[in-house]
Amino acid sequence: MMIEPLRGNALPAHWTGNADTALLDKAIERALASIDRNLAHFGDDFPAPSSVGGVYPAIGNIEWTNGFWTGMLWLAYELSGEARYRETGERHVRSFHTRQAERIATNHHDLGFLYSLSCVAGFKLTGDPLAADAAMGAARLLLERFLPGAGIIQAWGELSDPAQRGRMIIDCNLNLPLLYWASKYSGDPAFGDAADQHIAAAARHIVRPDGSTFHTFFFDPATGAPREGKTHQGFADDSCWARGQAWGISGFPLVYRHNGDTRLIALSKVLANYFLNRLPQDGICYWDLIFTKGQEPRDSSAAAIAACGLLELARHLPLADPLRTQYEQAAQGMVMELSKNYATGNMPGGGLLAHAVYHKPNKVGIDECCIWGDYFYLEALVRLTRTWQPYW
Ligand code: GLY
Repeated sequence: MMIEPLRGNALPAHWTGNADTALLDKAIERALASIDRNLAHFGDDFPAPSSVGGVYPAIGNIEWTNGFWTGMLWLAYELSGEARYRETGERHVRSFHTRQAERIATNHHDLGFLYSLSCVAGFKLTGDPLAADAAMGAARLLLERFLPGAGIIQAWGELSDPAQRGRMIIDCNLNLPLLYWASKYSGDPAFGDAADQHIAAAARHIVRPDGSTFHTFFFDPATGAPREGKTHQGFADDSCWARGQAWGISGFPLVYRHNGDTRLIALSKVLANYFLNRLPQDGICYWDLIFTKGQEPRDSSAAAIAACGLLELARHLPLADPLRTQYEQAAQGMVMELSKNYATGNMPGGGLLAHAVYHKPNKVGIDECCIWGDYFYLEALVRLTRTWQPYW
């Protein structure tokens, strides 16, 4: 696959300098203050996937997104060493343990998002065996969704549901690290083998020849024959949903971390250049990359995910690769722009990043905060200011 060269003016000119460390430190300070407000606001509840009028409704541990809030607490614990974040994180781990044991809203592939950021992170930071047990249980549930005939993990719904049978989605790249972790922890190669097959299918079919991505792709579940790409949250089947592209940029190098397949790094570069070449003037993407100017909503959450992905990608590139510095500067530029013009106020229950989009076609969470945007914004701030070992 050909890599689209990075356009000369793809990145705003002021992004080429060094990071403004005072700005990044201030952004972290503001984020921690917001997390403190929300700890008091939510107690042992969780923020909903997206805000309503800038404030997240409180929910139980029932959504695909609950791990992001717990992940923010673990990041806050790493940043500050403060016991209050760890204590709430540990209570969340008990809730996540119950959730997988009782199969509460687990009939989907987002177990990786849920358990990498809550229980794998908790286990890595505290050594809590209950966290490891919960993460192993979640990995087993995720492995149940692997369709051997197609070599993919089915994204949504019952495996027998004709509308969902044989469907993979680009977002699943971020669910795979849980499987690699489970193989390493348990010594059972079955988890990693399934992840290897899934990522190979994503590389072959969900990435298009021009370096853009389908949001979702259907296979014949029995024979594995590829069928068709379809969007779910993007503008059109043949457009490129910005957050999907960001899941690809970040997920391929995170999987490379586990399986060492250098083709995933080359692929992530292709996706990254496609993404960076389609940014509007301030460098924060619209919700679908078909839009490069005008009044369509931005998706700040996709920008935050892409920034983490670019930083992950850059660290696996040789120093002599000029794209390494360009990706680092793009990530830095995006995060500084987010902190200056997208970071939001100080309402109890409010998010860190305004101007994200959850599901534009379904008219849900448009120009709101999205909890994964908040998580990845904080992860990007941590990546830019510290040496950090990912929870992924
Ligand atoms: N993984 C679902 C989303 O990005 O909205």
